[in-house]
Amino acid sequence: MAKALSEILAEDVRAALTAVLGDAARDADPLIRPSDHADFQANGVLPLAKAVKGNPRELAIRVAAALVPAAAQPGSADAGSPAVSTSGVIAAVEVAGPGFLNLTLADAALAGQVAERLGDARLGVSPSTIGQTTVIDYSQPNIAKEMHVGHLRSTVIGDALVRLLEFDGRTVVRQNHLGDWGTQFGMLIQYLVEHPEARPAQAEHSGEVAISWLTALYRDARAEFEADGGFADRARKRVVTLQGGDEESLAAWEEMVAESKRYFEDVYGRLDVRLVDADAVGESFYNPYLADIAADLEQRGIAVRSDGALCVFFDGVKGPDGEPVPLIVQKSDGGFGYAATDLAAIRHRVGTLKADQILYVVDSRQALHFRMVFETARRAGYLPDGVEAVHVQFGSVLGTDGKPFKTRAGQTVRLIELLDGAVDHAVATVAEKNPDLDAEQARAEARVVGIGAVKYADLSTSRTKDYIFDLDRMVSLTGNTSVYLQYAHARIHSILRKLPVGTEPRVHADLALEPAERRLALQLDELGATLATVVAEFEPHRLTTYLYSLAQTFSDFYENCPVVKAPSAEVRENRAALVRLTGDTLKLGLELLGISAPDQL
Ligand code: ARG
Repeated sequence: MAKALSEILAEDVRAALTAVLGDAARDADPLIRPSDHADFQANGVLPLAKAVKGNPRELAIRVAAALVPAAAQPGSADAGSPAVSTSGVIAAVEVAGPGFLNLTLADAALAGQVAERLGDARLGVSPSTIGQTTVIDYSQPNIAKEMHVGHLRSTVIGDALVRLLEFDGRTVVRQNHLGDWGTQFGMLIQYLVEHPEARPAQAEHSGEVAISWLTALYRDARAEFEADGGFADRARKRVVTLQGGDEESLAAWEEMVAESKRYFEDVYGRLDVRLVDADAVGESFYNPYLADIAADLEQRGIAVRSDGALCVFFDGVKGPDGEPVPLIVQKSDGGFGYAATDLAAIRHRVGTLKADQILYVVDSRQALHFRMVFETARRAGYLPDGVEAVHVQFGSVLGTDGKPFKTRAGQTVRLIELLDGAVDHAVATVAEKNPDLDAEQARAEARVVGIGAVKYADLSTSRTKDYIFDLDRMVSLTGNTSVYLQYAHARIHSILRKLPVGTEPRVHADLALEPAERRLALQLDELGATLATVVAEFEPHRLTTYLYSLAQTFSDFYENCPVVKAPSAEVRENRAALVRLTGDTLKLGLELLGISAPDQL
């Protein structure tokens, strides 16, 4: 695997610092940063000079001389520096300001990195966390209900994190925590039993038909529940028979679960996300464990009875009225809710799934819930010290008016409609770019472009912020959009197809590089560091920012450095290697976000 140049530099500078200062510098961070004056700068001399009470500029001069022997650096005659063995990637060092080191890399070092990455399926990026297991709870739609934009965000962010964490070497266990339990099922089952004709006529039907009859069932059952006291009583009794394991009730419940899954599968297929049926572990899965959790917490005094309900209290968690807000483990009527289920899920994820890390990709409005659940699980030891639990929160999706995203009639937007709308919108973009496509091809490309655009818009805003759902901007050919990146990637392939026969992307390390070639090579080298921060912070937008900036750097390179019409065969092959690696980097980056990048668009 290729070490990034910035890492190699950090090692070289640390070696030089240690040679000059001894042990005081052994663990120092040389603070390697990109620079406007050279390729990189090392800022680590100043804090060290302060620590050893030395003159930073003098120290910097000695370190520079140790890095690049005085002979190679006219003007900085031997300052009495010991020789250090370094990687040899540094071509020149310059001391700047009070003690910064400006570092310029050898062209051959840049070329060497390109060659190493190009020959590797992972583009030279090594996995960092082998042997660790992450359990990730995401998507989480509710049975018998439409998926809405909140589920879109959880699904898209969760899917990207799954891909990114797996690439990083983790074992990832997906958990789709379906909302498949609750008192509303009494009402739905009762209505279905009394109105068998509510089901669709034909046995074979699409996910859309499935959700449309379930939505109608929900609406009609609720209306009857509110209008008819007799029905409401029968519905309440139905909850009890369902919980008692009554077969007729269970069969109706299972039918609704199966119908909903048919719809979810349809949505997941359109979205091209990795969730499958085996990942669905609904709330009902935890029912057998809830009574035990409640008894355990009560016995150990972690939860206490308050007005009949079993509650856990926290310092500093108070409502607007100043009263403490508890986590309710068991309601006063004996029923268990959302919190008890989440506590049981933690036990399962730690005990059975062997999680080292548990991620919850859920809306930021549930922040307090997760804070209380995690704290309770820690107190009870369900969540041991070695296991990290993170609420990977996200903001809301807003309409172009800046208010929560709704239809014109003020209703929540159906996810399928929203996705279809994005694809429809993308047809125009695809046609603008390539007017010769026939209708069917245009539709197929629009699907790739439109779905990519929805995902990218979501992933490219900092996760915790709200964002505006604006299709015009999302499918635009310019700006920070997936469409821009997909076309940049396709253009790269069209350049590669135009190379004269016999020309292969091949690195010639002895060639001097143009500034635009150097800038591109340096940026390509940053992929690994970018991915490392993305998985450490669960922030996919850092990857989109990197990819967008890479595509811009590429454009600048392509304007300044002809590839097909390069001045010599070697230069052509060398540039082709940069083109190819840029294409591969864009493709890998987009795929890790769950967005496809076809070679031709
Ligand atoms: N189904 C819930 C909703 O639609 C989200 C569930 C989140 N996950 C969890 N483990 N509580 O709001």
